[in-house]
Amino acid sequence: MNTDAQVVYLNGEYKAIEEAYVSVLDRGFLFGDGVYEVIPAYGGHLLRLEEHLQRLQNSLDGIRLKNPLTNQAWETMFNSLIKKNVGDDQYLYVQITRGVAPKRDHNFPDHVHQTVFAMSNVLPAVPRAESEKGIEAVTLDDIRWHACNIKSTALLANTLLRQQATDKGAGEAILIRDGLATEGSASNVFVVIDGVVVTAPTSPLLLPGITRDLVLELANTHDIACQQRDITEAELRTASEIWITSSTREILPVLKLDGKAVGDGVAGPVWQRMIDIYQQYKQQLREGRA
Ligand code: PDD
Repeated sequence: MNTDAQVVYLNGEYKAIEEAYVSVLDRGFLFGDGVYEVIPAYGGHLLRLEEHLQRLQNSLDGIRLKNPLTNQAWETMFNSLIKKNVGDDQYLYVQITRGVAPKRDHNFPDHVHQTVFAMSNVLPAVPRAESEKGIEAVTLDDIRWHACNIKSTALLANTLLRQQATDKGAGEAILIRDGLATEGSASNVFVVIDGVVVTAPTSPLLLPGITRDLVLELANTHDIACQQRDITEAELRTASEIWITSSTREILPVLKLDGKAVGDGVAGPVWQRMIDIYQQYKQQLREGRA
C-alpha cells in the first residue's frame, strides 16, 4: 500500500490515521507519561537507527518502562511504515506510554499495558538557498526539569519556550541555565569560537541529539576542530557562528540572536563546510552507502 492516506502503527496494527484512537485514561494523555523518538529516513534508509534505538532504551529505562519490542521488530515495523506512506524522505515518530490504567492515579498501575504508537511523515527537502537564510533565535531561561536527557513526551516547558520564541518572530529559543547555553527548545546548539566548533557536553540538562553526535563525528573525520565543553552566555553572544541541529531541521545557522547579528549576519564558512559534508552523508545513506 502506498496511497496518500496516512497509515500509522498502533499496538501491533497498521491503520488509517483517522481510525487510530487511544483511551482518555492513557497515562500519556493524563500525565505525559511516555517517551518518544524521531528518526529520519532518507530514500527509505533510516538514519542512525542503532543510536536512536539505544537512546529510546535509555529513555525507557529513565522512566522505568519495559522495551515492548526487540530492535529487529522495531526495524521491521519502521520499514513497513515507511513503505506504507509517501515521501522519498520521511521522519518516523514513535512513542511508548505507560498505557491505560483503571483510574487516574499518580502511582504506576500494577499491570502495565503499554501503548505503542508510530507514524511517518514526509520530510521535505530544504534547498540550500533556503537553509542558508537561517533563523533568528532568542535566549530564554531554561525552565525545564533536571532529566532533559530523557526524551519524554512531557514537553510542556519546551512548547511554552518555543511559542515564546515564535511570538517574538524567532525560529528557536536557545536555553540558558546557570549562565550556560544548554540547548534549543527542540534542538542542540553549536557555536563557532576562533574557528573551533563547540557544543555543550552531554548531561542530564540536555538531550543527547543524534544529529549532534553525527555532526561531531563528521567534523572529526573531516579535520574540523571541535570541542564538547560548556558554552557561557557571553560566548554565545560573541560567537562568530551559531547553529542548531535536529533530526528534522538538520543543521541550521542562527543569523540573529536576540535581535543582534551573529558574526557577519550571514551563514558562516564553517556552517557552509559542515552542511556540505552533512548533505554528502545523507546522499550516501540514500544510496545505501552510509
Ligand atoms: N527533537 N534537544 C531537544 C530538546 C530536542 O527536542 C531535539 C529533537 C534535539 C535534537 O535531537 P536529534 O538530533 O536526535 O533530533 C535536542 C525532535 C526532533 C522533536 O521533538 O520533534
